Amino acid sequence: MLQYLLTFVVLAQPAPAPAGADKPATEQAQPAGDKGKAETAGDKGKAETAGDKGKAETAGNPCDKNAPRPANKPKKTLPPVGARTDLGAGSYWMPPANSDLATHVDSLFIAILAISIFCFVGITIAVVYFAWKYRHRAGHKAQESSSHNDPLEITWTIIPSIICVIIFLVGWKGFVDLNTPPRHAYEITVVAEKWKWSYKYPNGWVDENLHVPVGEPVRLVMRSKDVLHSFWVPSFRVKQDVIPNRYTKIWFEAKTPGVYRQYCAEYCGDRHSFMKSLVVVHPPGGFKHYMEEAEQALLDMPPVELGEYLYAARGCNQCHSTDGTTKTGPSWKGIFGETHQTSAGSVQVDENYIRESILDPTAKVRAGFNPVMPTFKGQLKDEQIDGLITYIKCLK
Ligand code: CUA
Repeated sequence: MLQYLLTFVVLAQPAPAPAGADKPATEQAQPAGDKGKAETAGDKGKAETAGDKGKAETAGNPCDKNAPRPANKPKKTLPPVGARTDLGAGSYWMPPANSDLATHVDSLFIAILAISIFCFVGITIAVVYFAWKYRHRAGHKAQESSSHNDPLEITWTIIPSIICVIIFLVGWKGFVDLNTPPRHAYEITVVAEKWKWSYKYPNGWVDENLHVPVGEPVRLVMRSKDVLHSFWVPSFRVKQDVIPNRYTKIWFEAKTPGVYRQYCAEYCGDRHSFMKSLVVVHPPGGFKHYMEEAEQALLDMPPVELGEYLYAARGCNQCHSTDGTTKTGPSWKGIFGETHQTSAGSVQVDENYIRESILDPTAKVRAGFNPVMPTFKGQLKDEQIDGLITYIKCLK
């Protein structure tokens, strides 16, 4: 009970309202796909008409993101990553239930809350009333207490027992449902690490946000790279620990398209509170479209754009800024070509040093920073590393 109340208190904190807070969540999620489509169409036209002229003008400048592209490689725009859509102002209640399980959890919670309030109010009134009725008065002799009352004692034992058994049975049904995903559930791999979430899809696409189709069961197979984390989506009322050296699973079926918050619910270090992402529930057809776009986009992006995309999608932005601010790691702004003091002597920041730092981050740790970056060995293709290098080069 206390745990539930604490949960509510935590949720009651109004969330900071990011840009675009006034738009409803569904509107935010939707246009991403459409926008991508529209821009693609628009740019395609531009690229076709610009033709060879554009190519000649921008040749040799990998930082020009507006360079017209070849007609067969139109610009792809993915839903913005890293942008926090607002999901409604905070309230003193849980966010609207968005799965059958959530509805089940809510009904039971409200029933227990109602019983608790009923008992609390009833007992308080009785205590106050009796304290007043039998208060000490001059010349008033205390009444003797009755030693025993069988009917009363049997009643207050049997009724609460029945209520407890009912609560157990309803809770047990929810627990069983939570642990038995339908066979045909869509499976997504979730990797937790200090301090980001990665979602890996069957086609190999890795995203910093969880994208799911509406009205279809989704099963998450989760693991942690380092310490204990906990996957939590309040709108779905699902919460599950994510543990190193072991897989944990959870499933849900979202009922309404939109963008929902996802949190880490287990204290996992000093940036625990930053370890959150979004769940984008796509309308019918939208999820398949997003996956196709995602797959194609990576193949078609110019290196600088790919780098910028990966910067957010792979969580580099959790520790590295692009505006000169020092976070857990050094900022990327203007570092290309600089000479840095590192744990292995002074090093000039060039392509090879960036590549090494991505694949073997602890080899040459810049002075003043801790060797806390995870390796991306085996997780990034060479083209993707090219993209990140180009992106860093272009941050002047
Ligand atoms: Cu991960 Cu808290």
